[in-house]
Amino acid sequence: MMTSQTIETTVVVVDAQHPNAQSLAIASQIIRDDGLVAFPTETVYGLGANALSTDAVARIFAAKGRPAGHPLIVHIGDIDQLDQVARAIPDAAHNLMNRFWPGPLTLILARTGAVPDAVTGGRDTVAVRFPSHPVALGLIRAAGVPIAAPSANRFSHPSPTSAQHVLDDLAGRVELVLDGGHTDIGLESTIIDLSGDVPTVLRPGGLSLEALRDALPTLAYTPRRSHQPGMTPAPGTLVKHYSPNATVCVYEGDSADVIRAMQQEIRTQHEQNRSVGVLAPDQEADQFAALAATVIRLGDTLEEYAQRLYESLRTLDSAGVDTILVASPEQTSLGVAIADRLFRAAEGRVIRVSPTESHPED
Ligand code: TXA
Ligand code: MG
Repeated sequence: MMTSQTIETTVVVVDAQHPNAQSLAIASQIIRDDGLVAFPTETVYGLGANALSTDAVARIFAAKGRPAGHPLIVHIGDIDQLDQVARAIPDAAHNLMNRFWPGPLTLILARTGAVPDAVTGGRDTVAVRFPSHPVALGLIRAAGVPIAAPSANRFSHPSPTSAQHVLDDLAGRVELVLDGGHTDIGLESTIIDLSGDVPTVLRPGGLSLEALRDALPTLAYTPRRSHQPGMTPAPGTLVKHYSPNATVCVYEGDSADVIRAMQQEIRTQHEQNRSVGVLAPDQEADQFAALAATVIRLGDTLEEYAQRLYESLRTLDSAGVDTILVASPEQTSLGVAIADRLFRAAEGRVIRVSPTESHPED
């Protein structure tokens, strides 16, 4: 594997709403010189490079330890930049762009010759996103080129939702980190493939299926977690994604049954001298307080759950727990994307809890 020379990483704190022009000028010069800049978006932090430069894009793969052939999202700072990277744009795409751009939505479209193979993994399509974060927009506009950016984490780590997460993974591998504080949404963009006959969600994300289907009722989505024949992802593609070091177990079922099963599992793990972390919404967290587990509260809403999920996985990893137990949320709005990320982190270890036949009423 290619190892990059250690370089000095500078951190510049910027106001998330009104980033100062001088900081953006420094950052955009690095992009034009084929360097790497990590920057906040409304979803997660991105690791950016000039999308039109093969050399710059190669550095992204080296810094992340990402296997070549894994395609990147191209970020544009203005709708006029779209034609530079994509062509033959279908009506459905215009419809979605009008409604949801700028925002947490990535569209797979036919690509132009200007996009290097390194960005698309040699595909004839390109992933395009027009982010809404003022720092992301300011950087792309100042650079004057579209910016290719995967999430700014080492390959297989959870995506970064703060500048500190970026440094934990990429210090010495990126020239500059623009620190705009915690990201708003906390999960990656929703990706829709519009290059085929049926518009299809490839990755649920920060923009809900409900909102998208309101604009595009025919939108198809098959959750990864339903094990239809032929739908089981190849081990290599699933195992290395969004995974903390600990073993993650996801529980599905009625809340009370799930809590009982998780409590029982904590006891079992404890007997085996394994340390346990629990991710729980505020209203359930107290149910684990008396047990031997590190409990992280995910808030009261799906928005808070999404904002805190990746950071919580990193925190439990730093705490060195062996096992992480978490209940899958309801499958509406951001819950669909949360369930997808939990399933990937768990490498498919989903425990479906059936109601206990009878349990003492005490
Ligand atoms: O919110 C986000 O989307 C963040 C921020 C930084 O914008 N970016 C992000 O990038 O999550 P990354 O590289 O971690 O995920 C990009 C996803 C990958 O799953 C990749 O397979 C898919 O986009 N992708 C990129 N180009 C594609 C293409 N031409 N066809 C199909 N999938 C593609
Ligand atoms: Mg990623």
